[in-house]
Amino acid sequence: MAFSPTSLESDWPGPPLEPGRQARSLWAMDPELTFLNHGSFGAVPTPLLERAASFRTAIERNPVEGVWRAGIPGTRDAAIEVADFLGADGARAAFISNATAGMNAMLQSLPMEPGDEVLHVDQGYNAVWQTLVQTGRRRDIVPRKVELPLPVRTTAEVVSAFTAAFTDRTRLLVLDQITSPTALVLPIREIIDAATEAGIRTIVDGAHAPGMIDRAAAAAEGAVAWTGNLHKWPCALRGAAVITVAEGFESIIKPPVISHHLDQSFAAEFDWQGTHDPTPWLLAPDAIRFMDRFGGWDSVRRRNHRMTVDAHVMLCDRLGVEPICPLDGSMTGFMATVELPASLQPEHGGPPLSSSNAVPGPDGRPTIGLDPVHRRLLEDHRIEVPVVTHDQKRFVRFSVHVHNHDEEYERLADAILEIASA
Ligand SMILES: Cc1ncc(COP(=O)(O)O)c(C=O)c1O
Repeated sequence: MAFSPTSLESDWPGPPLEPGRQARSLWAMDPELTFLNHGSFGAVPTPLLERAASFRTAIERNPVEGVWRAGIPGTRDAAIEVADFLGADGARAAFISNATAGMNAMLQSLPMEPGDEVLHVDQGYNAVWQTLVQTGRRRDIVPRKVELPLPVRTTAEVVSAFTAAFTDRTRLLVLDQITSPTALVLPIREIIDAATEAGIRTIVDGAHAPGMIDRAAAAAEGAVAWTGNLHKWPCALRGAAVITVAEGFESIIKPPVISHHLDQSFAAEFDWQGTHDPTPWLLAPDAIRFMDRFGGWDSVRRRNHRMTVDAHVMLCDRLGVEPICPLDGSMTGFMATVELPASLQPEHGGPPLSSSNAVPGPDGRPTIGLDPVHRRLLEDHRIEVPVVTHDQKRFVRFSVHVHNHDEEYERLADAILEIASA
């Protein structure tokens, strides 16, 4: 029995689906919850969850067949199909469990000399910075942050911030395609070109890019490697992400975990990284096809972007705050980060900032800290939206996907104004 996604009775592609309020019933989210954080861990549509359940049961008919004999070739077929969606060459694309693992693979593998400097953006993802810190310890390289302007007014300003940070010792640039706390879509092609001209290699952290950016991996042309998550905008099962490498780097970049197929080929090394559940990888093409039913990916991108821009303008206006990036949407994808009103900022007497990282609780079990404003949005208003901090200030980063509708952003503005005036 073959375990490729098409081996199950397939109703995808199926009839077109309508985005908006009515699409919400295709997801299992609590109907009372206003869900504006698709950006962190995504949200899996129920039909895909059901397909995954049947798929896992099919694997259990003979786990050795499902995980190994059919699982490995099925993984390759799925990787090639996903690579096509991302504008990448299937032979140089492979699954990995998440973008953090992709960045670890690159930073562990690329040749570097002691004393080499590696740059990362100050608005980058903390886990990637920590990877860089640990790489620095192991390999005696020097991680350094590039300060991006905030508010940012033009893409040219961003490119200049990078070129001004390059030094004679800079060997590698770790570049975010979309910044995490500030949700800026960076002009990566121009930045990669400037780095290449300065003799610096670039690796791209495209955690948020698949689906949000058309042919997301191709957009990083000139970089030596790219990674992106499929659980965010393509709504794949968690555990599905992709790594791609430029020609000439197939034998250099190794998976973060070495298994049986060392030095056989890039694909062989990554397609088996030890025993795992292959379902998220094998069903990643199904997730992409399911989301395509919302009028096609171009239409999903246009709607999500337009709604993000409209909500961004409305929120800045109603909250009376300055935008941190152009309101015309030129640096915006499916998320925007909006500063909270002065009364919610610590420098104006608002609650102190707190991080949402896991910290040991009194009994030693980890607990996740919740920012006080985040807590009020969640507990008093049933709105799940990340409250992020940058530069000692508090912001919200809202997201838009096909299950959202305009009214939810008005609800967010109402809730923030109520909390701010309390
Ligand atoms: C820029 C960036 N890099 C890396 C990651 C890490 O993603 P993951 O936790 O799926 O590895 C994220 C997560 O949102 C991110 O925003």
